[in-house]
Amino acid sequence: MVVVIEGKKVASTVIGRVKEATSKLAGLRNIKPGLAVVIVGDDPASHSYVGAKSRMAKECGFASVQYTLPSDTTQDDLLGLVEALNVDPTVHGILVQLPLPEPLQSDSIIQSIRPEKDVDGLNVVNAGKLAVGDVTTGLVSCTPAGAMVLIRQAHGEDLSGLHAVVVGRSNLFGKPMAQLLLNSNATVTIAHSRTKDLAAICRTADILVVAVGRPQMVKGHWLKTGATVIDVGINRIAVSGPSEAKTRLVGDVAFDECKDIASVITPVPGGVGPMTIAMLMANTVIAAHRAAGVDAPRF
Ligand code: GUN
Repeated sequence: MVVVIEGKKVASTVIGRVKEATSKLAGLRNIKPGLAVVIVGDDPASHSYVGAKSRMAKECGFASVQYTLPSDTTQDDLLGLVEALNVDPTVHGILVQLPLPEPLQSDSIIQSIRPEKDVDGLNVVNAGKLAVGDVTTGLVSCTPAGAMVLIRQAHGEDLSGLHAVVVGRSNLFGKPMAQLLLNSNATVTIAHSRTKDLAAICRTADILVVAVGRPQMVKGHWLKTGATVIDVGINRIAVSGPSEAKTRLVGDVAFDECKDIASVITPVPGGVGPMTIAMLMANTVIAAHRAAGVDAPRF
């Protein structure tokens, strides 16, 4: 019988631990974790994600500030805001929502965030720390960190002897995901759009993690029987109905056929998605502990 992971439940356990750590830190040092969320332009999906992040930060007891900037914001204006947040001692985490509208250059903005406040884990210093296995001073990108919490629930801390296949090679997800799996002793393959015979490679996976942005691409016959399948895709597709056109969210995995072959699978929505925000809160409370010189919790 397949186990369908309830991401919302796991995320609310993480949030509970974040709240506990937040009130302990207040007791020890009278400090509230401070999260600055920056959004440029008016993309509705980005506004909805950022609104959810700001609301959750407030619920966790953080001092949360959202900066909503117009789409004609210049590179220098944005760099100036990041610099002001970098030197503000009440701000422990800075998140600049991506993608940024043209012609803003996101890489130079992301790299200008101080590594110790880079709660997205996208700065090269944090990417490098993850690459050398330093999880005690670095910050890990939230979605792979959240996917890893779900994988640890299914398999424990040690993935020795297991073959993990990550489909997707982005800096935001695929690369850090592969590093996390490798740090837990899995044998890791990274596959991507140029990989030959992707289905055959996926069939060798004990743990298959998919983040490609192609609705329902992974079919049931792509899986090894009993695999753990982590679906990171969030795609909105049209569904035809008797009345007006409707849409629904699906992952990169064809859930209905894959659930009969996998032993563990994440649904979309309700799988990895809720974990991303929870891990952002976890990174912020970790950054606040480190700034205060207090031992940080592990998630
Ligand atoms: N846009 C979509 N996902 C993310 C994320 O995890 N962090 C940032 N900064 N922007 C995003």
